[in-house]
Amino acid sequence: MVNAIEVDGIAKRFTIHHERSQTLKERILHPRSGSSEEFDALVDINFVVDQGETLGIVGHNGSGKSTLLKCICGVLQPTTGQIRLRGNLAALLELGAGFQHELSGRDNVYLYGSMLGFTHKMVDQIFDDVVAFSELEHFIDTPVKFYSSGMYVRLAFAVAVNVDPDILVVDEVLAVGDERFQAKCIDRIRHFQREGRTILLVTHQADTVRAICDRAIVLDQGHMVADGPVTDSLRIFRERLLGDVADHRPAGAGSVRIDGVSSDTGAFEVRHGAGMSIVVSFTSDRAVSGNLVLEVFTRTGLLVSRNDAQSAPVTLRPGTNRVGVAFSNVPLLDGVYDLNVGLVEPEGATVIAWSEKAASLQVLYDGRAGGVVAIDSSITQS
Ligand SMILES: Nc1ncnc2c1ncn2[C@@H]1O[C@H](COP(=O)(O)OP(=O)(O)O)[C@@H](O)[C@H]1O
Ligand SMILES: [Mg+2]
Repeated sequence: MVNAIEVDGIAKRFTIHHERSQTLKERILHPRSGSSEEFDALVDINFVVDQGETLGIVGHNGSGKSTLLKCICGVLQPTTGQIRLRGNLAALLELGAGFQHELSGRDNVYLYGSMLGFTHKMVDQIFDDVVAFSELEHFIDTPVKFYSSGMYVRLAFAVAVNVDPDILVVDEVLAVGDERFQAKCIDRIRHFQREGRTILLVTHQADTVRAICDRAIVLDQGHMVADGPVTDSLRIFRERLLGDVADHRPAGAGSVRIDGVSSDTGAFEVRHGAGMSIVVSFTSDRAVSGNLVLEVFTRTGLLVSRNDAQSAPVTLRPGTNRVGVAFSNVPLLDGVYDLNVGLVEPEGATVIAWSEKAASLQVLYDGRAGGVVAIDSSITQS
């Protein structure tokens, strides 16, 4: 059996700088009050992955999964240890990594392709397949900053699976997008498995690990605490998870679900300029903190708005949870809009739960302005 990936004594230490003084005055009075701290995100990680094997990586939030994948992909340099890869690798890292927001989908396909070692000519040859897989024909010349998270992942996944990689690395992104597209991605992954390609998969969804992986490792606070058959690893993980829920510490894998979105009036209808409240219902098997993402789309699929998720922290308890969201003076003009709702990790943008087209919103407007939003204007003449 040939090793596709050898991870040999990997450690990763981050230096975190603390700025203790908050105000300018304090900073002047105590110029050296900041401190720095070393943090071991990964400690002595060793494993090999056979060619053709699919390895799942599970662990709590912050256990080091993404850091490990970044070391394997060469995005991060490990502090100690060595990684050996046989064959070329294509990676789908966390949401937001890799794409240039100002560029069109088309330009990003070429850019991403070149990052994966493809020349312009080689990308020309796969371009139509990429676009077909992504189902973004109508948006391929739109800047990706107008894409939803789901569209973004569709394009990245389409490139990654079309550059003919020997090793495919996927960090969480499968949780984004609608169920039909997720199923299509999983189909493609199974196809890759039949072709004997090697796959590394990080996911919060234990079911996905069970369905796809041949083997799984478990990370806990930077240490590898299990490496074996999926059922054994998931059991070990669950045992640690249960201990942690009692501690009220956040956890990684398992299941966090968005059950639905409801409106306080029962109808998803709002007058232009008025406010409305919605409730997002979650079922979680653990205590978990994340940021709430809200995306609003036109029916033609263009992103009208994504909130600043950093300022929308949410903490879920084990069980069912209801999170209220209040919109004040909705600036949309008349039409029907789709709403995507998600919960992402505070660090990075890893998706914990996602609901594509969770609701559609009817906006009523009887003025004469046209377009999607009203921009106030006043006229002066001289
Ligand atoms: N660039 C960085 N600088 C400092 N700490 C980091 C950095 N990247 C990740 N970390 C920390 O390393 C730990 C592991 O993070 P990560 O690999 O993203 O975990 P996971 O993907 O399992 O949720 C976390 O505590 C995180 O805060
Ligand atoms: Mg992560």
